[in-house]
Amino acid sequence: MLAIPHRPVLLHQALEGLSLRPDGVYLDATFGRGGHARAILARLGPSGRLLLNDRDPEAVAAARAEFGEDPRVSIRHGNFASIAEWPALAEGLDGALFDLGVSSPQLEDPGRGFSFLLDGPLDMRMDPHQGETAADFLARASEAEIARVLRDYGEEPRARRIARAIIAARQQAPILRTRQLAELIERLGGPRTAGRHPATRSFQALRIQVNGELEALSQALNAVIDRLRPGGRLVTIAFHSLEDRICKRAIGGTRPRPNTVPGRRLPPAPTPEPMLRPVGRPQRPDAEEIERNPRARSAVMRIGERIR
Ligand SMILES: C[S@@+](CC[C@H](N)C(=O)[O-])C[C@H]1O[C@@H](n2cnc3c(N)ncnc32)[C@H](O)[C@@H]1O
Repeated sequence: MLAIPHRPVLLHQALEGLSLRPDGVYLDATFGRGGHARAILARLGPSGRLLLNDRDPEAVAAARAEFGEDPRVSIRHGNFASIAEWPALAEGLDGALFDLGVSSPQLEDPGRGFSFLLDGPLDMRMDPHQGETAADFLARASEAEIARVLRDYGEEPRARRIARAIIAARQQAPILRTRQLAELIERLGGPRTAGRHPATRSFQALRIQVNGELEALSQALNAVIDRLRPGGRLVTIAFHSLEDRICKRAIGGTRPRPNTVPGRRLPPAPTPEPMLRPVGRPQRPDAEEIERNPRARSAVMRIGERIR
């Protein structure tokens, strides 16, 4: 395991957003390397509790090494999509934090396959023991499916062109390496938007697909909102518009409710009662934080408070 540090984003704002009580019960659903967790724990008293979760076994190993002996801490390895199964949540939560996306140790370890700048296996799984890799997906998916993923999850305007090039390339040789894919996209040319590398959107899209990120987030937010005690706080930090949209919808108060029964037309579903009240406006890192930590630049933090 490489010892790459992770700088927590919007740290003070997130702590304030959680409105911490020394004897409260808090969940950090995305431990990473514990930047937020460490600061939360420093503010809890002896009867406070902190529940730590991550789907990445390396993150969980780091959590166990640092906090495994602390009687206030419980640690879970798993996708937050199934967080409702964790008995530790049963007594309710005073606050929950979701600091989404990937950590610096994930991004900067070439062996994890998240970076288009570093050559490594085209993997991108946050839990390397679960599901298919990005290379597996590109080997089996149809051109239309690849194009849909690039368009829907990467908002990539050249989705069809890139998908066509991937299909042509894989007929010559399997696409197994990060740089192999990045160079294939670079060779297609096209504009670099706002200094972004041309493979940025495609890599984001594949990461979201491989990890089922959007479905997991919707499920987790629903489960956690149910567990929040009245006055409990939900704090989300999102790094792209698709995940921020899900957070905004959850914190905006209402939750999506399906209104379909196969073969039957139903009147529109009644709007569900709001569960959360948004607290303040969405917050972004200031220029000084972005200067110190360029990875913070696209972060948007939202805070919601459970109202009933
Ligand atoms: C941005 S990092 C969190 C950094 C952390 N707040 C810190 O300061 O060190 C995001 C973490 O969330 C984890 N993660 C992302 N999606 C997840 C999911 N569906 N279930 C569990 N963990 C997830 C990733 O493995 C990663 O470690």
